[in-house]
Amino acid sequence: MGRLDGRVAIVTGGAKGIGAHYARALAAEGARLMIADIADGSEVADGIARAHGANSVASAVIDVSDEAAVKELVAQTMERFGKIDVLINNAALFAPLKETKCTEIDTAVWDRVMAINLRGPFLMVKHVAPHMKAQGYGKIINIGSGTVFKGIPRFLHYVTSKGGITAFTRSLSRELGEHGIRVNTLAPGFILSDTVVAENPKHVETAGKASVAGRAIRRDAHPQDLLGALIFLAGAESDFVTGQTLAVDGGNVNT
Ligand SMILES: NC(=O)c1ccc[n+]([C@@H]2O[C@H](COP(=O)([O-])OP(=O)(O)OC[C@H]3O[C@@H](n4cnc5c(N)ncnc54)[C@H](O)[C@@H]3O)[C@@H](O)[C@H]2O)c1
Repeated sequence: MGRLDGRVAIVTGGAKGIGAHYARALAAEGARLMIADIADGSEVADGIARAHGANSVASAVIDVSDEAAVKELVAQTMERFGKIDVLINNAALFAPLKETKCTEIDTAVWDRVMAINLRGPFLMVKHVAPHMKAQGYGKIINIGSGTVFKGIPRFLHYVTSKGGITAFTRSLSRELGEHGIRVNTLAPGFILSDTVVAENPKHVETAGKASVAGRAIRRDAHPQDLLGALIFLAGAESDFVTGQTLAVDGGNVNT
C-alpha cells in the first residue's frame, strides 16, 4: 500500500530536473498525477504509465505564468482525475540563471523570474484552491530555497523570488487552514539536479563547494535526498503541519 494511495497531485515543472524525481516518487507512493511544465513531460509520464498504469498520469505543456493556461490545466486535471489533493509548486526559473551582480541584472530577466517563480505559484493556488476547498482538504507544497536564509549574493532576482515563497506559504496557510488545506514550503539546499549540472556548470562549481562546506552533513545533495520530505508533506502524516519551511539541506540553514 502506498502512502499516497487515492490522492491526485499536480506537479509543476515535473518534466525534468528535480520535478521529474518528485513525479516518479509521488506515483510510486500511489498518487495519480498531472505533470505540468513548459517543457514536454511526455517522456516522464510514459515511464510512470509503464510502471503504474496508463490511468496514473497525464502531462500538459503550459507556462505557469499564463493565467488562461493555468485555468485550462486545472480544468483538464479535474476532468481526467476528478479531484486535486496535492499541489507541488516546483516550476521555477533556476537552472539557467547565471550569477549576476545586482547592478547588471537585466530588468526583463528580473520580471521573468518573478512571473514564473511567484506569479506561477499564485495562479496555481488561485485555480486549484477552490477544488480543495470544496472537498475540505488539500496539501500545497511550495518549493522554496535555502538561499533565502543565507542571502546568497549575485542571485538577487532568484533569492528575492524564493523569499516571497516563504511569505506566500505563511500567509496562505492562515487563510486556507479553515478549509483543511495545509500549506508548507520545502526548501532544498543546493542540489545536483540533472538540469543545473547540464545547464550551469559554473554555478555547480561555486555553489556546490560552498554548500557542502556549510552543511552539518558534508556531502553533495541529490534529488533523491528531497523525496522523503516531499512524500511526508504530501501525505496524511503531516496533516497537523502547516505554514512551515522544511529545509532539506544536510543542516546548512536553520529555519
Ligand atoms: N537544484 C537546486 O540546487 C535547487 C535548490 C533549491 C531550490 N530549487 C528549486 O527546485 C525546483 C526545481 O529545480 P531544478 O534544479 O530541477 O531546476 P530547473 O530550473 O531545471 O527546474 C525548473 C522546472 O520548471 C520548468 N519551468 C520553467 N519555466 C516554466 C514555466 N514558465 N512554466 C512551467 N514550467 C516551467 C522547467 O522546464 C523545469 O522542468 C525549482 O523551484 C528550484 O528553484 C533547486
